[in-house]
Amino acid sequence: MIDPNRKIAVHHIGDEHKELLYKLAEEHGTPLFIVDHQQIERQYCEFASRLPNVQVYYAVKANPDPEIIRTLFDTGASFDVSTMKEFNLVYENIKDMPENERLEWIKNNIIVANTIKTVEFLEELDRFSPLLTFDNAEELKKIKAHSPHARLILRIRVPNTGSLSELSSKFGADPGTAANLITEAYVMGMKVEGLSFHVGSQCVNFENYIVALEICSRILREYYERTGQKMRILDVGGGFPVKYNDSVRSIRALAVLFNEELKRLFPPDIMIIAEPGRFLVANACVLVSKVIGKAVRDGKICYYINDGIYGTYSGLVFDHIKYPILSFKDSEVTKLSSVFGPTCDAFDTLTLSAELPDLKIGDLVYTENIGAYSISSATSFNGFEPAKVLHINIDRRPID
Ligand SMILES: Cc1ncc(COP(=O)(O)O)c(C=O)c1O
Repeated sequence: MIDPNRKIAVHHIGDEHKELLYKLAEEHGTPLFIVDHQQIERQYCEFASRLPNVQVYYAVKANPDPEIIRTLFDTGASFDVSTMKEFNLVYENIKDMPENERLEWIKNNIIVANTIKTVEFLEELDRFSPLLTFDNAEELKKIKAHSPHARLILRIRVPNTGSLSELSSKFGADPGTAANLITEAYVMGMKVEGLSFHVGSQCVNFENYIVALEICSRILREYYERTGQKMRILDVGGGFPVKYNDSVRSIRALAVLFNEELKRLFPPDIMIIAEPGRFLVANACVLVSKVIGKAVRDGKICYYINDGIYGTYSGLVFDHIKYPILSFKDSEVTKLSSVFGPTCDAFDTLTLSAELPDLKIGDLVYTENIGAYSISSATSFNGFEPAKVLHINIDRRPID
């Protein structure tokens, strides 16, 4: 019997790649998180070519690995950061630029898209005249007090219907309050340079984008009618979906709608930026783990592997993704099996319904499309260290 999960995996790995993965895992040990940098470049190019008028600000939170940031930096990306730690990961790539050039680069290529920032972070950022998002009056006061040189983007609350991770209950100003917040900023001596929104991560309901663009265009129009001034920036956030399975429509389909709406609703001189995270990294990474235990409970086979919920599979909890766990064995005969992570916690359950061939202790299993919101939320709970990261197809360093 063929594993049903296998049939729905769209960006799945061919046999020749499976062989490579297997060899790498044997050579480097497991759990092994393999990052394919050529695939990251392909995703970036796909995004940039489908949405040619949109500048890409990679959302570092999706996967903050320094080599991934370096590849995206080299490819021409800008960055969305939420903390000083993320800021510094990007800064590493520009630290040798002459000072003026470096400050200019930060101004033009970094956005702090977390609407709630600590006082300490604001104070550290101020010397860079950072581009910051906000969505409420208290944050505005905090920014004025601790980062007075900031440039502002107002985040608007938009529908997140059907997205895998909803963000609208936590972030975004109600569209009806936008005019007041913009005026408040103005009265405090700060300028709102643009609007942003986020339709929720893995947004498979494209209508969310269409409604969000409509809402923002209405706010911008009203702002212009009231003040005679135009805002410079529209930030369309993240949410660009990855084809984890066949039911997800491609970015090609989204881009057709998106580009039409951008053209219809916004002036040609507005700067459009986006903050894709998942789209750039999810299908560039594979995890290989090892079966470290096997038992039969209530007649069902249970496999214990050396990565779990507290590690790379943390996305099962935080990102609501159901990751198929696949075998390297090409067996026609499979059995419904449970797969658990290595810790002492029963919560560390990866699936109760994997179709797997008969595996032995020491056999390897793998999971594709696991590049986003996975290793970034891994912990060392119970003394199990996060997976080793291996970078492949990277020009600047030979594969070791
Ligand atoms: C403000 C902001 N921008 C961008 C992203 C990236 O979203 P995605 O990975 O869905 O593209 C997130 C994700 O939570 C976010 O909170």
